Amino acid sequence: MQLAKYPGAILVCGALLLTAGCTPATNDSSATSSPTPVESSPPASTTSPNDALSGGVIETPAPTPTPTPTPEPTPTVDCTLVSCVALTFDDGPGPYTNQLLDELAEKKTPATFFVLGAKAQTSPDIVAREVNEGHAVGSHTWNHYQLTKLTPDALASELDNTTRAITAAGASAPTMVRPPYGAKNSEVMEAIKARGAAGIFWDIDSEDWKNKSTAITTARALEAQPGDIILMHDIHPSTVQAVPGIIDQLRAKGYTLVTVPELLGKDPSELAGMQVYSQTQIR
Ligand code: NI
Repeated sequence: MQLAKYPGAILVCGALLLTAGCTPATNDSSATSSPTPVESSPPASTTSPNDALSGGVIETPAPTPTPTPTPEPTPTVDCTLVSCVALTFDDGPGPYTNQLLDELAEKKTPATFFVLGAKAQTSPDIVAREVNEGHAVGSHTWNHYQLTKLTPDALASELDNTTRAITAAGASAPTMVRPPYGAKNSEVMEAIKARGAAGIFWDIDSEDWKNKSTAITTARALEAQPGDIILMHDIHPSTVQAVPGIIDQLRAKGYTLVTVPELLGKDPSELAGMQVYSQTQIR
């Protein structure tokens, strides 16, 4: 899984901050109230270059060598303890996806992208950016066909060609498939299962493709309840415009924004062939 780059209720630590220890993330309203256990910070370095400047007395350095700092384990959000929602974006990468990624980086917010294979093939750099910036990437098939109307061979091509485009961009083989239009039947779900993936649907539909309205898209997203998966599309400028406000207002309501794997608390491959609608609606 590539996630938890921007978990909500965590402390931010780093090798360069050893003498300062950990500082709480400040832009997540849930951070102060989260019961998520926190790793203690490593001991402060004994050989800070500031020592010689701080007191006028130069002390003899400690005889024991400074241990090489070990990287902090990546903390994860426990969505059984805090109220989480997952923003998901379909149909990209598109002309506005980089702008959306800028916004998500600014807000330190992870999201989940269900990419089209054909677009992933022409914009592998954007898929790579999604992964590198801590987002989760799933498959939205190659051509956005209604999968229930395809022959078995065509269904297989839709899934497998998209997996190839995603992995060619440097991402892991997707363990999440969102069938276009949410169209599924037993054949579709069996094909998804055979590829070690879960079917990821949604329970909040922003209908952003229809309303093309920042205000309406925002209002619909804000109907989310704990554990919800929110469906949006990164191909509409009105949606991309709405996202910063949606993030702020969801956080003001106490939500932690997570990727779908974080919401589920496991890699979706563990739910292969299942239909996931929210954190708890899985069948
Ligand atoms: Ni779609």
